[in-house]
Amino acid sequence: MISSVLALTGNVTSSELQIIGDDRGSLIALEQGRDIPFDVRRAYYIFNTKTGVSRGSHAHFRLEQYIICLSGKCKILIDDGVTQESIWLDAPNKAIHIKKLIWREMHDFSEDCVLLVFASNHYDEGDYLRNYDDFLRAVKRYA
Ligand code: TYD
Repeated sequence: MISSVLALTGNVTSSELQIIGDDRGSLIALEQGRDIPFDVRRAYYIFNTKTGVSRGSHAHFRLEQYIICLSGKCKILIDDGVTQESIWLDAPNKAIHIKKLIWREMHDFSEDCVLLVFASNHYDEGDYLRNYDDFLRAVKRYA
């Protein structure tokens, strides 16, 4: 369940997820259509990330993603071609929803970082913009 939502740019939303806690610990539930605002066709997770490396550095023509840091922390830079913002994903109740044509980079991974990503489609290299200048051109043309 989403307890609060913050719009970062038109195509990026950060949410604080409701923690259901009791004396045994904590639980967070995510429901497709309620919390994750698209049909999930793929999930993947990033872990065991080496110190000092960055990941991401791409945008997508169409793909939507919903990202949660289950353990540890990392910083995500989001860029809509005009504005850039860095956000710490440092709690398992913080989620970020990224829609199309947003450049993203992940930096400063802690050793224990586990990043879970839900995606709106299967893996398709043809949907990637991996070059920043191509991304800026696509923003001008399609955004
Ligand atoms: P890459 O896009 O470089 O990951 P990141 O954006 O986190 O830096 O992907 C690394 C490799 O994994 C690349 O060869 C493509 C492959 N891959 C899949 O096969 N399926 C997937 O769902 C993803 C995200 C990547």
